[in-house]
Amino acid sequence: MRFQRPLSLPALVLSFFSVVTSWSGVVVVGAEKVRDWSNEELEDHPDPNDENYAGMVYVGKHDTSTGRRVGFDEGNGVSFIFGTAFDETHRKIEEKDLLEHPLKPAHDIPEVDREKTLKDRRHKPMDKTGPKPFGHVEIHELDGGVMPPRVVHVEPFFMDESPISNKEFGKFVRAQNYETEAERYGWSFCLVSFLNPSTTEIEEGDPEAPHWVIVPGAYWRRPEGPQSSYKHREDHPVVHVSHRDAADFCKWKGKRLPGEWEWEAAARAGHYGPSNRTVYSWGDDDSWETAEQYANLWGDSEFPTENSAKDGWRATSPVKTYPPNKLGFYDMTGNVWEWQRGGKHKSRIVRGGSFVDSLTGNYNHAATLGARATLHATTTAANIGFRCAKAPRRRAEYHYVYHDEEAHGQLAIEDEFKSIHRLPQRGWEDRFTDDQDDAIGEDSLAGARRKKKKVVKTRERYSTEL
Ligand SMILES: *[C@@H]1O[C@H](CO)[C@@H](O)[C@H](O)[C@H]1NC(C)=O
Repeated sequence: MRFQRPLSLPALVLSFFSVVTSWSGVVVVGAEKVRDWSNEELEDHPDPNDENYAGMVYVGKHDTSTGRRVGFDEGNGVSFIFGTAFDETHRKIEEKDLLEHPLKPAHDIPEVDREKTLKDRRHKPMDKTGPKPFGHVEIHELDGGVMPPRVVHVEPFFMDESPISNKEFGKFVRAQNYETEAERYGWSFCLVSFLNPSTTEIEEGDPEAPHWVIVPGAYWRRPEGPQSSYKHREDHPVVHVSHRDAADFCKWKGKRLPGEWEWEAAARAGHYGPSNRTVYSWGDDDSWETAEQYANLWGDSEFPTENSAKDGWRATSPVKTYPPNKLGFYDMTGNVWEWQRGGKHKSRIVRGGSFVDSLTGNYNHAATLGARATLHATTTAANIGFRCAKAPRRRAEYHYVYHDEEAHGQLAIEDEFKSIHRLPQRGWEDRFTDDQDDAIGEDSLAGARRKKKKVVKTRERYSTEL
């Protein structure tokens, strides 16, 4: 077998360069030989089943008979019902909707408008001393995720099995000499019942969240202010990190934040259909006895003053304390909210609920699989952390076809961004007009003003043929 490949090489070269030069110097092109692909061994591609990363779980379609990843084949992502709410709107979605759902790339999760963000930053340099915006921008009362629930499709991905711990974040901070946003602003949000009032200088917080207070000097290393330390909480999820801190950590790891569709697909762990979808990560049981075994939530006691700690923890718990879901993800519900990719600077998405949440939303959020909130990107608090995700390797495929310009006309030019610019065609001409109507005759001292006015160019096309 080994000898076959080198032998086939000269034949390959000959078939492509079947150009013969005659004695008189005239180039004669030989009869075109069609390359026979059927006899050739295709180069091996790496087996997608060999691609694994420590501490990450693969989410994608598996072959039902072999249990192996479908890999590079078409449609190896998963479709599921995104957002299962208490109001039962998801009941309208049927099995056939799931099966017929067209495959869509995961990229329609809105990316940050990079240019706009950069522009905003240039115009509003960060003021370290000034107020840091807080914000629950939007609260989803039913905690069923985006309304209405719908079928979505995500391409396969890897995601960290648990939120990033203080220990891991500490490595990043030391390696990069990284300063988190909570440090730059000089404060973060803490839950009032965890503070020692005699030692901590506390300021009023957000009127809409009275039990969260501004604590000067609180950041990931000093979770309750200058007197506190994370030292006995090395394996707890890192908190007091902003969206930027989270994204920078993931980038340093060669990863990225998960999209919220990806995150929810991981949280639902295979229970994607109308017959098996659930409200909570452990099922539909809304009793605290069950919930306490699966997630670090506030519990069956009054918020914010009491916490029975029946689940074992008053605030955050070490990652991987509770059993993982079917796919192997820990802490998908409760413990800390997790930053997601996408959204806008003023309303970034967090998923999963945290240790202050309830089961039915009678206080804070209902910790359902759809639990979702949007926050200002600079918000940091004692219950917000993150984990990272990564896209698997793609196989690059090239398909060449020959194009006969004589018979079929000129080709459009495709640029590196895959947008097609048609070549200008005869019979069409572009005309530009300056739309200055409202700048003219407004008032006579408008000379200077008019100069400043933005000129809007409208582009019209006229056909001379039609
Ligand atoms: C849930 O149901 C869907 C179809 O509705 C099915 O594809 C999937 O395998 C089921 N998941 C489990 C864990 O049984």
